[in-house]
Order: sequence, then C-alpha cells, then structure tokens
Amino acid sequence: MTIMIGNRNAVPTEEVFPELTRDVIDRMSNAKSARLREIMEVVIRHLHAIVRESKITQGEWSQAIDFLTRAGKMCSENRQELILLSDILGVSMLVDAVDNVAGPGISDSTVLGPFYAGHQRELAQGDSILLREEASEPLVMSGHVTDPDGRPVAGALIEVWQTAPNQLYDVQDNDQPQGHLRASFRTDMAGTYRFRTIMPVSYPIPDDGPAGQLLAAMGRHPFRPAHIHFMISAPGYRTLVTHLFLDGDEFLESDAVFGVKPSLVVRPELKEATNTVEYNFGLARELRTEETRSPSFVAGNNRISSS
Ligand SMILES: [Fe+2]
Repeated sequence: MTIMIGNRNAVPTEEVFPELTRDVIDRMSNAKSARLREIMEVVIRHLHAIVRESKITQGEWSQAIDFLTRAGKMCSENRQELILLSDILGVSMLVDAVDNVAGPGISDSTVLGPFYAGHQRELAQGDSILLREEASEPLVMSGHVTDPDGRPVAGALIEVWQTAPNQLYDVQDNDQPQGHLRASFRTDMAGTYRFRTIMPVSYPIPDDGPAGQLLAAMGRHPFRPAHIHFMISAPGYRTLVTHLFLDGDEFLESDAVFGVKPSLVVRPELKEATNTVEYNFGLARELRTEETRSPSFVAGNNRISSS
C-alpha cells in the first residue's frame, strides 16, 4: 500500500496520517494468534492516538524511549520496575478488575506487587513467619478458606509476605535473613489457617528509579498503607491474590498503587493482650480449562508458544 504523508498542520489532529495506522494494523494479517492480532490492533490504535492527541514532539518521544529503557535496565531478580510502573499508573488494578471474578462468597483481590519471591518454606499452623526478633507488636492472623458456598477448602496453599518494621521486604534488605516475614501454610480439613507475625507498617514503594521519578514528577507520594500480602491457591479454584490492610492507616485513601478495597481493611482486636485478626477468604471456582488460559504470545525465540 502506498502511504501519503499528511500535513500535520493542515488537518485536525485526529486525522493526521490515518493510512499509517491502517497499514500497521493490516500487516498483521499473517499473525498466527487471533488474540495477539486483536490485542495489538487496539494497542496500535491507542498508541497512535496518544501521539496524535498529545502532539508528541521528537524530543518528548526520545524522553519516553529513554524512560522505558531505564526502567527495563533497572529490573533484576530483586527489582521489578515495570510492575511498579504498571502499579502506579493503575494498570495492575484495572487488569485485576477486568480479569477477576467477584460475587457472593468470593473475596476481593488486589495487586500482586513486585515483592512476591516464589514459594517459601511451609510452616505448621500457628507458627511465626519471622526469622529474627523484631521490636514490633505481635499479630495473630487466623480464619478459614472456603468455596463460594461457604464450605471449607482443605489443603489450600496460603502464601504470605510483608515488610519488616524498617519498611523493607527481605529481598530489598541484605540485613534481613532471606525468607524473613514470608512463609507458606496449608489449610487443615476444616479450611483453617493460623499464623503469627507482627503488625505491618506503611512503606514507600522503591522510588529511587524511573517509576519513583515519574511519581514525583506527577506530584504524588510513593506510600502504601500497611498491609500483609496473601496468595491462596487450591486445585479447582482461581488463585486469589490479595492483601489485608490495617484500618486507620493514613495512606488508605491514597495508596500509591490504588490497591485498597473496603472489604480488605481489617481492625485487629486485642485477645489475651495480643492483636488478633480473624479473616475468612472465599475462593472462586476455576471455570477455565487449560486450553483457554492465556498462551504465551511472544516467546523468547520469536515463535508463538502454546504453553
Ligand atoms: Fe506490599
């Protein structure tokens, strides 16, 4: 197709060079994955619309490329700048809203965040997730994991993680023992879980990289309200990724990653002089089969993978 380059000053912005957008989309006709083609068409249309609507200059586009390059280079085994970027722009919570199911008996989900560190040591009911003493108030967490009808889910894997009182996760802090304040548990036949930890604290997301620089440039603070992360999985159920937040935290209304939902805010009660939270998690049934789960569109070897 022959492309005529329009005069950007002579026509309304939304009409600048529409043939280019059409041509980029049309060239995907040989794409093997219909879903990839569908998504990329939307991506291309919106990317082009951003350039048109904002009248992006060469200098601004160079800045954007430089920003994304720096964000990518910042990533390592212990640092995920692109998840941070997704989180602070509200994209992670939007994907959560679009993809997650809700309903009676099903707990609310929220962002995974960049600090999940894979499967951790499995502890027994009632054990502490601390690997060293902390000068913090103890907290006992307990409750049940149930299906949407309220029946117990036995053998569910409960993974938990939180920061130390110094506002850092173990993976951010060489002074903490690896695995400190994170662990795994299994529910018993009654769907019960129980573990000991400490009261979580609010903390700033890592703001010494491009995501933090963007936050500052947008006039926003980097803080998240105090929370404990949960990931709960069991065969036949959708994996629930969520947090529990502490009531009264000053950042509940302005979480840097927009992750707070009212149903996830808890108020510890003093029981036998110890802060205690009882919270029941409801899992949604997994209705999707293996075949309908997201394929890997763009494999590292540039071939479409079906797994
Ligand atoms: Fe967190």
